[in-house]
Amino acid sequence: MKQLIELEINGRVYEVPVNPRDLLADVIRNKVGLTGTKKGCGQGDCGACTVLIDGEPVLSCITLAIACQGKKITTIEGMVADDGKLHPIQQAFVDHGAVQCGFCTPGMVLTSKALLDKNPRPSEEEIKRGIAGNICRCTGYKKIVEAIGAAAETISTEGVK
Ligand code: FES
Ligand code: FES
Repeated sequence: MKQLIELEINGRVYEVPVNPRDLLADVIRNKVGLTGTKKGCGQGDCGACTVLIDGEPVLSCITLAIACQGKKITTIEGMVADDGKLHPIQQAFVDHGAVQCGFCTPGMVLTSKALLDKNPRPSEEEIKRGIAGNICRCTGYKKIVEAIGAAAETISTEGVK
C-alpha cells in the first residue's frame, strides 16, 4: 500500500507516494524526476546511483526511500549553483576530459564531494581509494583522478564548498 512521504532533496521538500519497498534511486528518477542520478547494476556494485545523504555517499539503488525521511539528500542537480555555475568538481571533470559517456559521472562527482569534504587535500592514492566503489565502464580513471586532484586545489585556494 502506498504512503505519502516527504523527501528533502537539494534543499527542496517533495511529497511523494511510495510503496514501502520502493528504492531511493527509482523514486528520485521516476517520481521526483531528477534523472541525473543513474542506475547501473541496481545491486550495490557500481556506484552510479550514489547520492549524498546528510553528506555521506549512499548507494540509492539499495536504499529504501521510506528510510530517507527527515534526511538531507543531495543529487547531482544540487551541485550546480543557483546561477547555473558548475561546482568546482564538475568543472574540473569538464576541464580535464574526465567525462566520456557520462554515466558514472554523477556518482563519481558526489563521491568526490564527500571525499574532499573530509579530506580537502587527498593524495593520488587517497583519491583512488576514495572512488574505488565507483566503476567507470569507459575506464577513464586517470582523467577522473586528475580532475579530483585539480578540484581539491581549486576548492582549497578559492574556498568554494
Ligand atoms: S546502480 Fe547502485 S550501485 Fe550500481
Ligand atoms: S564516463 Fe562512461 S562510465 Fe564513466
